[in-house]
Amino acid sequence: MGWAWALPVPGARACLTMDERTLKKHLERKRKLLQRLKPFIKPGSIVEFGCGSGFVLEFLSREFPHSRIIGIDNDLERVASVAEKNLPNVIPICAAIEENIFPAAVFDTAVFVCCLHEIFSQAGGEGVMKALRIACDVLKPGGAVIIQDYLKPESISVEVRFADELLLERFIRFAGEFKPRRVDYELHGDIVRVDAADAFEFVSKYHAEDEEHWQEEMHETHFFFTKSEFEVALGEVGFDVTSIEEPPGSGILTESHKGFSIKPSLKVGWIQVVGRKGLSKVNEESRP
Ligand SMILES: C[S@@+](CC[C@H](N)C(=O)[O-])C[C@H]1O[C@@H](n2cnc3c(N)ncnc32)[C@H](O)[C@@H]1O
Repeated sequence: MGWAWALPVPGARACLTMDERTLKKHLERKRKLLQRLKPFIKPGSIVEFGCGSGFVLEFLSREFPHSRIIGIDNDLERVASVAEKNLPNVIPICAAIEENIFPAAVFDTAVFVCCLHEIFSQAGGEGVMKALRIACDVLKPGGAVIIQDYLKPESISVEVRFADELLLERFIRFAGEFKPRRVDYELHGDIVRVDAADAFEFVSKYHAEDEEHWQEEMHETHFFFTKSEFEVALGEVGFDVTSIEEPPGSGILTESHKGFSIKPSLKVGWIQVVGRKGLSKVNEESRP
């Protein structure tokens, strides 16, 4: 799942719903971030891993009308909604990335937007490495991989001050129930000291609108790799990292922080990493 938008917190005093204006701003921001993919895309055959309902595919289809674009996702409903869009040069496929359904060396570009954090949540670092190996395998030599996802901040202790008692209770519940990793924190009155990555995880989840959604969020981590971990992971599977940036203005949820503040004030980060399949490297690990 992505960030929980437009979701009132049950019982919370502050109204945390995202109004239409904020939603529009969020989509605008996402569109701007997609523009950053453009210079790195090698036209021809393009695959988006974890395409969801096709927000990125629409962009790719519009910008690269002469390319053949494949979207793959394991959620049938989302793949069906891509099909309904009838994008002229897009083929949606329902399959798990790890099924490795494509032949080797057929794509010019492979894209992961907001997908690898979900794979990490389901299958840990090994799952991410497997997905990256598959991407490397299906790319032609010199092909490009482009990743956009949440960026785990370097480990640093932050102070979260809760003006809202219910939100503090919600944080304590989060710390006890978050499954991907242990959340250590110190409580001093209405202030919690906690690692920045865990504070960000809370920021990404506290909106959950009902118990089912909350439980789902407790199994998902958004902030899984730091910048250097992305670089190492790409290098390990056979990519040369050619560009790595933290797009300015991509701080997410800043409008929605009602009821608490974080010091030092850090922006929830987003990263774009681009790699080229090393021309001399052979990647055989993803094939049986
Ligand atoms: C947050 S959505 C992003 C969708 C799209 N890329 C976008 O940015 O609008 C992540 C998508 O990855 C898909 N996904 C997660 N793990 C997957 C896997 N192992 N195989 C295929 N798809 C997967 C999910 O079903 C979901 O649709």
